[in-house]
Amino acid sequence: MSAGHPELVAAIASEVIASGPIPFARFMELALYHPQFGYYMRSSKPAAERIGRKGDFYTSSDVHPILGQALAKQAEQMDRLLGQPSPFTIVEMGPGKGLLARHILSTARRDYPSLFNHLRYVLIERSPAMREAQRTNLAPWLDRPERMTWVDGLAQIPPHSLTGLCLSNELVDSFPIHRIQMTARGLEELWVDYRDGRFVECLKPLSSDRLASHLRRIPSDWPEGYRTEINLQALDWMTQVAQRLNRGFVLTIDYGHTAQDLYSVDRTRGTFLCYRQHKVHEDPFLDLGEQDMTSHVDFSSLATAGEEQGLQTTGYTNQMSFLMGLGIEQMLAGLAQDSPELTAAIQLLKPNGMGTTFKVLVQHKAVPSPKLDGLRFKPFFRSVLATQSAA
Ligand SMILES: C[S@@+](CC[C@H](N)C(=O)[O-])C[C@H]1O[C@@H](n2cnc3c(N)ncnc32)[C@H](O)[C@@H]1O
Repeated sequence: MSAGHPELVAAIASEVIASGPIPFARFMELALYHPQFGYYMRSSKPAAERIGRKGDFYTSSDVHPILGQALAKQAEQMDRLLGQPSPFTIVEMGPGKGLLARHILSTARRDYPSLFNHLRYVLIERSPAMREAQRTNLAPWLDRPERMTWVDGLAQIPPHSLTGLCLSNELVDSFPIHRIQMTARGLEELWVDYRDGRFVECLKPLSSDRLASHLRRIPSDWPEGYRTEINLQALDWMTQVAQRLNRGFVLTIDYGHTAQDLYSVDRTRGTFLCYRQHKVHEDPFLDLGEQDMTSHVDFSSLATAGEEQGLQTTGYTNQMSFLMGLGIEQMLAGLAQDSPELTAAIQLLKPNGMGTTFKVLVQHKAVPSPKLDGLRFKPFFRSVLATQSAA
């Protein structure tokens, strides 16, 4: 293990030396998204060295196309509920290598021609290096910009202009987070200092009033030493998404929990993790720029942020139930017994793995009481997303 990419280490160190300790969220922002040297941004690091079997972690779309197939089916039902608008737009944010888009588009073309005929697919990707990988994986779709296109960010989309589906898979867990610790002095934040040629963490007061006010809205009766994370960027993102939607749905897939569960007293170490070559650890100062960093998503706060911007919460379930509601059993029946494809597809359903770790939050705007197949089974969740007490 090393300190990481030398130019990234130097860039972060010089910011700390110039300004003093920085909040962990700023450190993570630079580690992942420094414009030249950040983990996701470096053009010299091929996308397959980040995501996939030869990379640091893999996502559902690397395992099997079945999630994309199920999402195409869900999009077709959403399209009908919206009265088949022209176009029905899917905006996928943080598309990684573009595999999910490829699976959704090819399933729509094969199985749902009525959707496919008026489907427009928009990708929003922060990293130029990942956009390159998307162009490669989506090469067959590039010749029709009215069918598929990229925009630089949500800000480029006019408010209330979208009719369709705003989609993301494993985007929100990659946003920089504030790390919080309960101390004898009350709640403090982890900041990052640079001493004797190394990054070290230190505890200091909360870096903003906004963070303090958010912490007052979540259950925080924690013992001394308790650590957790707050993802303020997730709330800004949800606000922006909600404002862009005219009519339709927001579907967010990620690993996460309700606030009640994420911030329960027994989750004493939080959920922050680093991934390198499929190995998991908790040290953000190793292999800077060479490892991914993530934390689990607070779906209650995401749902509330959407509600504050006019979205209604359609439902919240786990990936296994979502896929079962969309008829994954029939889809799997088409795969040969004991085949590697079947084994791979089943991974996405596993009750002790991806099937329950991953959650699905669906929100809607200007669609009267939609009943979605993907939300048919909501096994063990009470309707508890709104666990927040008023500020
Ligand atoms: C963990 S990867 C998820 C990949 C993909 N969705 C999948 O399922 O394989 C996160 C992706 O989100 C991108 N990303 C991070 N922040 C973003 C933002 N604010 N807007 C758009 N893309 C972003 C990253 O560059 C990366 O490609």
